[in-house]
Amino acid sequence: MEECVRTVYLTLMLLCVVLPGTAHTANSLYPRIRLSHTELWQLNRTWVFQAHGRSLQPHTMMLDEGHERLYVGARNTLFSLSLDQVNTHHREIQWASTDSQIEECLMKGREKLECANYIKVLQRYNHTHLLVCGTGAFNPVCSLVRVGHSGQDRLFALEEDSVTSGRGRCPFDPNSPCTSTLSRGELYIGLYTDYWENDGALCRLNNQTYTRTERDDRQQLSEPKFVGSAVIPDNDDSNDDKVYFFFTEREADAEGLNKAVYTRVGRVCANDVGGQRMLVNRWSSFLKTRLICSVAGQNGIDTHFDDLEDVFVLKNKDGKNPEIFGLFSTTSAVFKGYAVCVYSMEDIRAAFNGPFAYRDRPEHRWSPYEDRVPYPRPGSCASKVNGGGFSSSKEFPDEVLRFVRSHPVMYRPVRPQHHQPVLLQTEPGRRKLTQIAVDRVQAQDGNYHVLYIGTDDSVVLKVITIYNKDTDTMEEVLLEELQVFKESAPIREIIISSKRQQLYVGSEVGVAQVRLHQCDLYGSECADCCLARDPYCAWDGLTCSRLYPAGVHTKSRRFRRQDVRHGNAVQLCNGLQIDGEGSEEKLVYGVQSNSTLLECVPRSLQAKVLWFFQNGEGRREVRGDERVILISHGLLFLHVRSSDAGLYVCQTVEHGYVNTLLRVTLHVLRGERVESTIHSSSGEEGEKAAAPCHSSPDPPLDPSLGPKVLVPASTPGRHSRQWYKEFLQLIGYGDAQRVAEYCEKVWCTDKKRKKTKKKYAAPGGEKRRKERGEENSNRAPRHTLDN
Ligand SMILES: *[C@@H]1O[C@H](CO)[C@@H](O)[C@H](O)[C@H]1NC(C)=O
Ligand SMILES: *[C@@H]1O[C@H](CO)[C@@H](O)[C@H](O)[C@H]1NC(C)=O
Ligand SMILES: *[C@@H]1O[C@H](CO)[C@@H](O)[C@H](O)[C@H]1NC(C)=O
Ligand SMILES: *[C@@H]1O[C@H](CO)[C@@H](O)[C@H](O)[C@H]1NC(C)=O
Repeated sequence: MEECVRTVYLTLMLLCVVLPGTAHTANSLYPRIRLSHTELWQLNRTWVFQAHGRSLQPHTMMLDEGHERLYVGARNTLFSLSLDQVNTHHREIQWASTDSQIEECLMKGREKLECANYIKVLQRYNHTHLLVCGTGAFNPVCSLVRVGHSGQDRLFALEEDSVTSGRGRCPFDPNSPCTSTLSRGELYIGLYTDYWENDGALCRLNNQTYTRTERDDRQQLSEPKFVGSAVIPDNDDSNDDKVYFFFTEREADAEGLNKAVYTRVGRVCANDVGGQRMLVNRWSSFLKTRLICSVAGQNGIDTHFDDLEDVFVLKNKDGKNPEIFGLFSTTSAVFKGYAVCVYSMEDIRAAFNGPFAYRDRPEHRWSPYEDRVPYPRPGSCASKVNGGGFSSSKEFPDEVLRFVRSHPVMYRPVRPQHHQPVLLQTEPGRRKLTQIAVDRVQAQDGNYHVLYIGTDDSVVLKVITIYNKDTDTMEEVLLEELQVFKESAPIREIIISSKRQQLYVGSEVGVAQVRLHQCDLYGSECADCCLARDPYCAWDGLTCSRLYPAGVHTKSRRFRRQDVRHGNAVQLCNGLQIDGEGSEEKLVYGVQSNSTLLECVPRSLQAKVLWFFQNGEGRREVRGDERVILISHGLLFLHVRSSDAGLYVCQTVEHGYVNTLLRVTLHVLRGERVESTIHSSSGEEGEKAAAPCHSSPDPPLDPSLGPKVLVPASTPGRHSRQWYKEFLQLIGYGDAQRVAEYCEKVWCTDKKRKKTKKKYAAPGGEKRRKERGEENSNRAPRHTLDN
């Protein structure tokens, strides 16, 4: 029974391996390299912090490079982790709701779990303190937390006497969306301020004032979901600094029937203190406009990605012109697609400087406001640059305040760079994308954005996107697919440290730290490195290694070879590698009429595998038929014939670069000979007699040692029987009856089998199964000739 379960599982796993292998070639969103959690671990590329078996539930994370710590706001706990190695020397502050608070919360009809203190706001208050706010059993609380170095015993403590009410600074509900940013001692936050989640607001708090959007003004905010925020200067005058909020809204359509979701960017002046007679403690500069992310359809109807999932602000040198990356999904209930769009500040500012939107009645369409606009222009800040001579928003004329209050929407939306997404995932049934972080990397042929995208199944996708001017198209190159947690869970947070070249990834199962790159993984040859197209990596004449930005190691840069744009190894590595050099040589014995697998798996999943057969009569490509099948693991012979004997060459082609991975000589043994060997054999003798069928020892499978090449010989083992049976059915081989008979014949029952199977289990085979997530199957030998 147990075996049965396992074999079915194995079959399913195999199916997963086989099917994409046949379908992916045209789809570049298929990863080039896929690393399981175990592999990342073995490569020393990751560390994982787990809160001793507790579910971590991170709601917010914050990087503190000065103190070399990562803070994680979780349920009832604030963690401080080491940036060097997240799983060592962590500290924690327990900050649970009190019993009476929990009781009160339960009386309001809430669940026990909701009545915990979920830390949702985490900001640097000053050099020595963090501002931390939690939901506190539906009664938000805030406190300052002392941080810093203090010898061995790092300071990390809640300042008990600083605990205050968190109302207006933290939502009540743990699942309520909120975003915050802290600048010059002032907290800017988008949140629902009330218990019933009716009052969505964009606010600023300091110890004197509270400035916010108007209450119950559906024109300002309509059922907002807050996603991101950032303070971005316009120019060198800090009085012109603006605070940008990224959120979605729900709006009824013209007929008032359906509510549609739109993504918005809204902004206020950082120095806005509201009006004097009207708009008291209300923003006097709040404006918003739509962010568009869409693709043109063949039928002329655009597909819109309107639901903002996450936003990443990629800072530039002077801080005034960051690039804004939005991760969007569709709002359709039937079709869930994802897209990443990039916006420039220039385009965002242009929209805010453009016409205001205007409509007579809510059911009318928006049109540009064409009448006179009061002075100073509504939405501008009280600053020298704006002329006006206003030192505070309190001095603005009533006319300006009235206008901004009634015209918060801009007519022009913001369109993304190149008017299209940089990344698209539109196949149904694929994983959900949840988070995004971006690194800017200087390569030999220009600057690249490396996107790290978190999914709902513990995976981080490392992607570059390349714009082709001539065709006006975007090429997505999925460099790596990294499974950062062993268990499948949605990724809730991704924080990048360019300085440390690390990614910090949070999900309910823990916090993982992953190095951004591992150049030696691609292989040591020039072509291996070049084909990887990883902007972090270049060939230095000996190995594939980190390419440092200009200025750091300028001397060695000249010798580096890299071609991110085209991955043209043919040109770049010409003469540096002789084809076939270093390829594996194998000898495999097959049994006549039985099945045999010649295994050849290139490390790159994007490489196309070609097989060639060579005998006395010449060389031809093996194209596969109903007897010889090309599968993602290699070449599968269902019935070996004596005429199959000869030399098989496994070649890969990637970006036009041809590489020979493996040369296998297949010998075909006649059935009777093997039969007699089996029956005459016993103990040592038998093993010896059958030994040739086990081929030469398997090559090491250390992934850092280049392509994986594994050659199991002849008949698979007992546990594989069921596996094969189902496999053959899956690939549509013959009728079930024949398959069953075939399997019975191939795997004749023999009691001695047990004795040897362990010995001949390929270590590689075991490892592979583990990669596919199967832990306890090492009892199944990968290949043994039953004897
Ligand atoms: C990983 O680190 C351990 C201990 O630090 C070391 O023994 C091992 O060789 C490393 N593995 C790799 C693949 O670098
Ligand atoms: C940070 O703020 C706290 C609370 O106001 C104060 O006690 C502390 O001295 C401040 N630290 C610095 C370095 O200004
Ligand atoms: C907060 O209030 C204190 C005392 O009233 C004042 O000294 C300090 O500057 C204020 N902080 C901010 C950010 O306004
Ligand atoms: C596979 O080999 C065994 C042993 O030589 C033989 O008895 C059996 O007939 C072969 N299977 C098929 C399908 O011919």
